[in-house]
Amino acid sequence: MISRAVIDEIHHRADIVETISTYVTLKRAGSNFGGLCPFHSEKTPSFTVFPATRSFYCFGCGAGGDVITFIMKAENLDYPSAIELLGKRVGIDIVQDEKEAGALMKRKRVYEMNLEAAKFFRECLFDKTLGEPGMEYFRARGLSSAVIKRFGLGYAPQDFGMLTRHMRSKGFSEEELISGFLCGKSQKTGKPYDYFRGRVIFPIIDTAGNVIAFGGRVLDDSKPKYLNSSDTPGFKKSRNLFALNYAKDHCSEQLILCEGYMDVIALHAAGFQNAVATLGTALTSEQARIMAKYTKKVIISYDSDEAGQRAANRAIQLLSEVGLEIRVLKLNGAKDPDEFIKKFGADRFRHVLGQSKTGFEYKMDAILSKYILENAEDRIKASGELCGIIAGIASAAEREVYIGKVAAALSLTSDSLKSDVERQRKKLYYEQRKSDSREAVNSAKKYGDRINLDAVKNVAANAAEETILGLLLTYPEHREAVAKEKIALKNEDFFTAFGKKVFDAVMELHTSEDGYDSALLGQYFTDDEMGRITKYRVDRGQLSENGSDILRVSVEKLKAEKLKESEKSGEDKFASLRRKQQMAKERKNNIKNK
Ligand code: CTP
Ligand code: MN
Repeated sequence: MISRAVIDEIHHRADIVETISTYVTLKRAGSNFGGLCPFHSEKTPSFTVFPATRSFYCFGCGAGGDVITFIMKAENLDYPSAIELLGKRVGIDIVQDEKEAGALMKRKRVYEMNLEAAKFFRECLFDKTLGEPGMEYFRARGLSSAVIKRFGLGYAPQDFGMLTRHMRSKGFSEEELISGFLCGKSQKTGKPYDYFRGRVIFPIIDTAGNVIAFGGRVLDDSKPKYLNSSDTPGFKKSRNLFALNYAKDHCSEQLILCEGYMDVIALHAAGFQNAVATLGTALTSEQARIMAKYTKKVIISYDSDEAGQRAANRAIQLLSEVGLEIRVLKLNGAKDPDEFIKKFGADRFRHVLGQSKTGFEYKMDAILSKYILENAEDRIKASGELCGIIAGIASAAEREVYIGKVAAALSLTSDSLKSDVERQRKKLYYEQRKSDSREAVNSAKKYGDRINLDAVKNVAANAAEETILGLLLTYPEHREAVAKEKIALKNEDFFTAFGKKVFDAVMELHTSEDGYDSALLGQYFTDDEMGRITKYRVDRGQLSENGSDILRVSVEKLKAEKLKESEKSGEDKFASLRRKQQMAKERKNNIKNK
């Protein structure tokens, strides 16, 4: 049995998107990633990676699971070997760590280590000879000593061993340095070497003031431009924001979200202390939720190039999902906020902040600018696209406001736009219904199900089971309701053997000392079974009705079906008994009549 600490650590470090990216070309689609499935042959992508739940699922062939399941399937390995392979890739020696699982880096130790390293980098930067290249770079980019100190910026000298030697002298082991991503591990000798070399250093500090990671930028145009620490026990890129430690005290009204560390630093230096940035990755829904905790409104201020504008569109989506008010800033005449402030000054930036657009206005501008509005045909196309966007908005009041704006922009009447929007809403509704019923047909056709052999015997019972398991897999409150017997549901209530097995595993984990973690399910199931389990979760995740009513109704449904089944089989027994008696009677009569 592999210890929970090791499995946890693997999941922390082996980012599912990064890991799968080395096998599959992934493209972002909303908050998820899509690509061509590596497990069956296909021309249109149905393979999806869900960073939020650290899982993947192929809507084509049903393969699915977590990062460990992926490696099992891709490399054709069993569970322990997949862990060992992943461990090697991310720098955890499973065999050794197993013996001393307790010795795995504790969060606090990582913070101590990073703090020591941050001090080292800072001292290097302020060292007259050693730090000269770094200091010159920062000066050239207009940073004052005060700003450099406030952000704890540093410099990693062009040397393979200075940091390692320093840290060793402070009592940090080679393993610790490697697992904290301060050191790489030499392929040849297995010895550590300094990971950041000849780079200026941006420490990432969490809201509690811990140094949780580092970003390091080259001083010229060489590649890669940035090196960043990978996720460690103290650090998840998707859960932190650069400079939130400062911004959190200045953002009750609004936050400014940028792409780059340098943008944030320039903004703070110019008096905008409510600026933050993501950590070298696209915005995540977790980060959106964090922002929603601190502020009401986010002004997206991304780079003005195409990539930046595309990223802004995704950010609009994620931020509005958590209920934040959104504005988008489009900077003219500069590639990013840093350059804008240098060129035009802080007052000008403050002025354009005030003119930032709402998410809808921003999308509307993008669509209007694609068309020549004097041209009747183009105006019809533009109106169609805009009505399509409006049709997807749930609130009627909001739809009305936007219809008014589009009407003004295209000089059309609100009434005609309104009926167009309604028509598109109906279409959306029917498409939804159609895909729902297609799904129902597909699931009824579950004959020949290799994974859940009993599913075909009672499709209704199995459907109820899938709903129940999807809910239990996704929501702790539902597991708790079952554990506390607020909802009467036991192993015996399940109809299929597979359903029973999944139920037992989920509840066992939930009631275990360390609590539930979906990452641990892989120990109990084959990779094919993990695919099915992931499907249950994905199916639930796509629905908005996930409350306790659904659970209660599904449990009732399952029990009713179970009862029917046992009555049916009881009936069958009597029927066959009667048939046997009848046959015996007939036989007797036959003999008599002879
Ligand atoms: N980034 C990264 N790795 C790269 C390039 C970028 O992690 N190879 C991340 C960094 O967090 C960076 C952000 O993406 O801050 C924005 O990228 P970019 O605009 O290229 O960098 P800036 O920080 O704006 O750098 P500069 O203005 O110095 O070019
Ligand atoms: Mn930049």
